[in-house]
Amino acid sequence: MKSKRVLLINGPNLNRLGLREPEVYGRTTLAELEEEVRAEGRVLGVEVEAVQANGEGELVSAIHRAGAEFDGILLNPGAYTHTSVAIRDAIQSVSVPCVEVHLSNIHAREPFRQHSLTAPACIGLIAGFGVYGYRLGLRALAHRLER
Ligand code: DQA
Repeated sequence: MKSKRVLLINGPNLNRLGLREPEVYGRTTLAELEEEVRAEGRVLGVEVEAVQANGEGELVSAIHRAGAEFDGILLNPGAYTHTSVAIRDAIQSVSVPCVEVHLSNIHAREPFRQHSLTAPACIGLIAGFGVYGYRLGLRALAHRLER
């Protein structure tokens, strides 16, 4: 059987991981995070490609590409989580499942971070477990794709 392909999409400022507010987001760099997710993919038999973009439109385009070329999406929309109708619509416009992931527990933070505009378009959300949450998200996605 052909292995499933997942596009890992990280949004704005996540290219600054490791340097950016390490007390909130940890010391793992984006490159290390992406490698950890790819390694989890190898365990699960899922091929993972990773992209990061700071712009809303670029993220919309990445989601469209995932809809055409991949079996699922693992997405951390960063701050756009809380503001972007365009990203929510993009997730809704594709037929592949999307799992939303956050390094921090957005529900335990400032009130403006506690609401996700994008999560209702996703099959589920994992928040608060740091980089490990991406591995959990990939597992959830792989489980969904097995069905
Ligand atoms: C984040 C949470 C967002 O509120 C924030 O804007 C980020 C990172 C997280 O992974 O915890 O950029 O998505």
